[in-house]
Amino acid sequence: MLAGCLQFKPEFCDVNANISKIRGLLKDKKFDLMVMPELANSGYLFSTVDELKKASEEIPGGPFCSALIEIAAAFDAYIVSGICERAGDSYYNSSILVSPDGKIELYRKTHLFYDEKKWFSPGDTGFDVYEINSPDFGRVKLGIMVCFDWIFPESARTLALKGAQIICHPSNLVLQYCQKAMFTRAVENRVFTITANRTGTDSNGGKELRFTGESVIVDPKGNYLFRGSDSGDECAIVNIDPALALDKHATELNDVFLDRRTELYSL
Ligand code: ACM
Repeated sequence: MLAGCLQFKPEFCDVNANISKIRGLLKDKKFDLMVMPELANSGYLFSTVDELKKASEEIPGGPFCSALIEIAAAFDAYIVSGICERAGDSYYNSSILVSPDGKIELYRKTHLFYDEKKWFSPGDTGFDVYEINSPDFGRVKLGIMVCFDWIFPESARTLALKGAQIICHPSNLVLQYCQKAMFTRAVENRVFTITANRTGTDSNGGKELRFTGESVIVDPKGNYLFRGSDSGDECAIVNIDPALALDKHATELNDVFLDRRTELYSL
């Protein structure tokens, strides 16, 4: 199965520019699953509700969603992307899974980071696992978490216990640790992880944030299949065998799920 990630700098409040950038990076590529950064339609650093209102869209029906539906159909592929969602008077830092037939699944970020708490409602979807399917790669279970969800091991663990073989991880990382931590999330759950991070600096309302790039794809044994640059655009595609994530053995005598001692844990 050909799985990959896109790394780029979303233009703030400019959905058409972001759609064009995505189309450009994907041109002539072949893939089954592509993961894109958090808030890929909108950019990240908001300073007013008006900006948030302008940059967000309802799901489905908005321009970014519609473009991803078109792209998924054209490439006969699945796409996971971060999206700034408007739902009535609420805003969510969301991600969608778009299928080649236009079906959409929605995840709303559970653990909001820092100033995101000023703008977004905390996600209410919980962590679900979705089956994707094709004659080329068969049935594969996929989960989604967004950026700061990584620091709560419960996020990846919940997805893995529900059967996710691949954890898709749209991100806008600003701290130093996540790209290293995803090695652990992959190994402790014996899953593939695909972290699609953004690059560049956003400045707005007297604040500035630099995003760290270095998107990573890790396999269930902790091998880094891809490590991106810290500032360039990237379209990485790797060939993976999702069946590897069905084997939960860390050694011949240790199955990381069956060996759990849940009677001794209080969480
Ligand atoms: C983050 O969750 N965007 C750091």
